[in-house]
Amino acid sequence: MQTVVYPDPRLRRRAELVQGIDGALRAEVLEMFQLMYRENGIGLAAPQVGWGARIFIMNPLGAESPEGERVFINPEILEQSGADQEEEEGCLSIPDVRGRVVRKDRVWVRARDLDGESFEAEFRGLPARVVLHENDHLDGILFISRLSQTEKLLVRRPLRDLEREYRRRLKEEEATPRR
Ligand code: CO
Repeated sequence: MQTVVYPDPRLRRRAELVQGIDGALRAEVLEMFQLMYRENGIGLAAPQVGWGARIFIMNPLGAESPEGERVFINPEILEQSGADQEEEEGCLSIPDVRGRVVRKDRVWVRARDLDGESFEAEFRGLPARVVLHENDHLDGILFISRLSQTEKLLVRRPLRDLEREYRRRLKEEEATPRR
C-alpha cells in the first residue's frame, strides 16, 4: 500500500459507498493505519491509497496511543457549528505543502465502524478539523482548494514542483516495459 500523491486524478474522484464490511476490508483498514503511522499522519482517507471507498481513519493522538484510533465508514457530516477556526493543515498526499484553512470548530458525524455498527459522535478542535479534512477527500476535495487567494499564491510553486515530478514519473513508467 502506497500513498497516492498530488496531482494524481484518483484524489479528485468521488469515492463510492461501502456495501459490506468483511475481513478483507478490515485488513485494508489495518494497513492504512500502518501507513498513516509510518508517515506520521493523524488522518488518512481511502482515496489516498488509491481505494475509491467512503472510508477514512484518524488518530489525533498519534501512533503511541491506539485508544485514539477511529474508523469512519460511509460517514455523513450531520452538522457543523461553533466558531470559524483558521489553522495550518498539511496532507500526506501533498508533501511539503502547508496552508491555513478556515473550518468550523465542532462537527457531528454519523458513520459505521469496523464491526458495521452505526455511531454518531461530536468532535471539537483538532479532531473536528481532521474529520472535515478527511471527509473532503471522499468527495475529491483537497485542502489546497480551501485556501485563501493569498495562501494559494504561497503554495503555487511547491504544487508546480509536485506536478512536474508526477509527469516525470508517468513518463518513466511508460518507458519501462511491463512484465
Ligand atoms: Co489529506
